[in-house]
Amino acid sequence: MHIDLPLTLLGGLSPVTFMKRHWQKKPLVIRQAIPGFSAPLERAELFDLAAQDDVQSRLVIQTPEVAATPWRLKQGPFARKALPALKKPGWTLLVQSVDLYDARVRALRDQFRFVPDARLDDVMVSYASDGGGVGPHFDSYDVFLLQAHGQRRWRIGRQKNLDLQPGMPLKILAQFEPEQEFVLDPGDMLYLPPRYAHDGVAIGECMTYSIGFRAPGAGELAQEVLQRLAEQALDEVGDALYRDPYQTAQGHAARIPAELAQFAQLALEKALHDPLATQRALGEYLTEPKAQVWFQGTATGLNPTQDVRLDRRTTMLYDDAHVFINGESFLASGRDAALMRVLADEHALSALDVRKLSAGARGLLKDWVEAGWVYLQG
Ligand code: SIN
Ligand code: CO
Repeated sequence: MHIDLPLTLLGGLSPVTFMKRHWQKKPLVIRQAIPGFSAPLERAELFDLAAQDDVQSRLVIQTPEVAATPWRLKQGPFARKALPALKKPGWTLLVQSVDLYDARVRALRDQFRFVPDARLDDVMVSYASDGGGVGPHFDSYDVFLLQAHGQRRWRIGRQKNLDLQPGMPLKILAQFEPEQEFVLDPGDMLYLPPRYAHDGVAIGECMTYSIGFRAPGAGELAQEVLQRLAEQALDEVGDALYRDPYQTAQGHAARIPAELAQFAQLALEKALHDPLATQRALGEYLTEPKAQVWFQGTATGLNPTQDVRLDRRTTMLYDDAHVFINGESFLASGRDAALMRVLADEHALSALDVRKLSAGARGLLKDWVEAGWVYLQG
C-alpha cells in the first residue's frame, strides 16, 4: 500500500495524513469512500450467518413502550423464525467477525491495512429495520462505520460525561449531547475515535459494516505474556535449590528470611531477562486465532510450481527476530525472514519465492499447508 498517496477510501487523504490528523483524535465523515459501493453480503446471507452456532450474533430490540426495559438484548444463534418480522420497526441484528466467513468482506477489511494488523479486530455487519439502532453509546476502540445498504442517520458528540443508564442490557448513555448530525448513504463512511458518543438510527431498512479495532490492555498483555513466560520458566531459570549455609539461628521462626526473598527476586529477573522471550510471547498472543476459528487440515503438502496464500482466518505477524502464525513462533533471519515477511504483509508468496526458501523454512510452510493455515494457488 502506498501510504502517502491520496485514498478515495479516506476522502482523498493519504493514510499518512489520516493517521496524523484523525486516528484516535477526531471523527471524519467521508462521502463515497467506496463510490458505487454494492454491499457484498445480502440480507439473507447475513441471516444465514446469524443462524450458525459458531458465529457470534446479537439482536437488539427497542421496546420504548416498556418504560423499565426500553432495550432488549438477545444472544445468537438465531433461526430465521426467531428474528422479528422485517416490517416490524426498531430492531437490529449484529453479526461479529464476518470477515472470517466471507472472502469479499475480508477483502474489504484489507483496505484498512494502513493500520497495523495487530490493531485490526474484525468486521461486524448489522442489519436494522426502520428506526433500528443500538442507542446512544460510545465504544472503547476506533471504528470505521461504512454504510452498506439503505440510509442511517448518525448523531455524534464529543461529550466527556460517559455515564451509562443503569440497569440496561446494553451500554446506553445516560445523557446524550449530539453536536453533529448526518445521513449516510451506501458507500459513505464515518470514522470515530475511541470514546466518541454516537447514535445511528436506520432510515428504512439498512445495513452497516463496522471495521473495528482492538487495543490490548496493559494488564491483559502483562497477564498473557507472563503466562507464556511462566510455562518456559523452568527451562530458563533452572531448578537450583535455595541454599543457606550462613543462616543464623532465629528467635522469630515465622519471619521469611530476606535472603530467600532475594533468591525469589533473582529467579524472577532471570525468567524475565530475555527480551526475545517477551517478544515471542507477545507475538504468540497477538496471533492466537479467535475462539470460533478452526482449520481443516489437508494432506496436500507443497507444490514447487504453485503460489501460496494465507487462509483468510490465519493471522501472521513478525518482529525483528521472529515470524508468528496462529499462536506459534519461529526464529527467522536472512532470506527466509525476508520471504516470510512478504507472506505476512502480502498474504501470498509466489512459487518462485517459495523455491528460494531454505529446506527448513519450506518444511514449515508445508506443515502450515497441511494444517490448513496456508493454501496452494494457481
Ligand atoms: C450498528 O451497526 O448498528 C452499530 C454500530 C455502532 O454504533 O457502533
Ligand atoms: Co458504536
